[in-house]
Amino acid sequence: MSARIPRFSPSFSPAEAWISLRHLVSFGDERKEVEAFEAEFAAYIGARHAIMVPSARYGFYLLLKSWGLGEGDEVVLPALTYFAIPALAKTAGCTPVFADIGETTHVLEPAAFEAAITPRTRAVVPTHLFGTPCDMDAIRDIAQAHDIRVIEDCAQSTGACWKGQRVGSLGDAAYYTFGLTKNITTLSGAMITTSDDTVAGSVRETIDSLSPGSLWKASREAATGTAMMLATHPWIYPWTLHPLIVLGNNLGKDPIHDRFGEAPRTYDELPGHYQSAGPRAMQAAVGRRQLSRIEALNGARAANGRFLDEALAHVPGLTPPSYPPGGEPIYMSFVVHHRERDDLADALRRLGVDTTVGYMSNCADSDLFPEHRTRCPHAETAVAELLHIPVHPNLSQARLDHLAEATRKSCLEIGR
Ligand SMILES: Cc1ncc(COP(=O)(O)O)c(C=O)c1O
Repeated sequence: MSARIPRFSPSFSPAEAWISLRHLVSFGDERKEVEAFEAEFAAYIGARHAIMVPSARYGFYLLLKSWGLGEGDEVVLPALTYFAIPALAKTAGCTPVFADIGETTHVLEPAAFEAAITPRTRAVVPTHLFGTPCDMDAIRDIAQAHDIRVIEDCAQSTGACWKGQRVGSLGDAAYYTFGLTKNITTLSGAMITTSDDTVAGSVRETIDSLSPGSLWKASREAATGTAMMLATHPWIYPWTLHPLIVLGNNLGKDPIHDRFGEAPRTYDELPGHYQSAGPRAMQAAVGRRQLSRIEALNGARAANGRFLDEALAHVPGLTPPSYPPGGEPIYMSFVVHHRERDDLADALRRLGVDTTVGYMSNCADSDLFPEHRTRCPHAETAVAELLHIPVHPNLSQARLDHLAEATRKSCLEIGR
């Protein structure tokens, strides 16, 4: 049988499944483990403070609030982004203003950010999407000139660097998320970092007031992580998840998207369950172990990404990704463009390669934000044409070769 390649493979390993189990049955000091993870994470990023938060979106909301941002304040965001971030900007009372992305970098274009600035602009969110660092020199210069706060979205880029410094240490504050599909996981949960003592104090006060998150939910995530670890193993995947994906596709469904995706929405008020989602020692212990492996995990992913950069550089009909010079991407996703994107996905599936169109939308042209509509041509093209090709760390050279060959073959077939 030719290779079967899943779109993702969790970084969760048997050692982390064991850590989760141990924390499920032993009731140690919840704070100690959380504090240790926060200190190690802050040191890794190069920020003075790291604070575990229930989700990146809530962390973002708390950052806006800690600066007193709200009614009448504008926040510039890339048009291609995760709906929950502009949604929470609105919940905080701010006005999201969308700016276009680079055509193939997929990240906020500095010139578009500058053009979106008005006298009411208070913050900008450079989203290091797909693991690709934004041009932080240009963005910081523009922000400084207009006295605008920089909140880095590192949800897809934990460990990426800009000119030798970790993303998340380059602005006023940053947020990260550690779901099961991310490069490192804490079985749900997220982090913010900042070197601003006042902001850290304000966020800390709120987080300390939350009651602990559900251990049941974290255990369920650990069980899902273990199941995904097994179901994406090269020996098991062809007989389990792959047939399910093919069957789902024939029925017009995507079982992975259905399990991990989230229906886009806005929030009139902060969801109540945030009040009972404080960090747990189990999440922190898994996070500490993941952080100890992050260089190996990101390194393997980036090596695969660089291989695909070369292998797919000149394929007819295919536009490969590009990266602002100065960044060291972690290749959280390898995103190509093709005009016949759905045909390419079908052709690749027939050759055993599972792909996805992902979860990003053009928020500048969304019914969620009708009063903030603006034309962002690059984001428009991206949502119509982008496709995520597998790039996760569990790809052998033989599988990468198959992946590149299958992509070339599929493009040639479509072009005929
Ligand atoms: C780019 C980006 N920003 C923000 C988020 C939100 O993270 P969370 O689900 O922890 O709120 C995500 C989630 O995957 C994301 O991909």
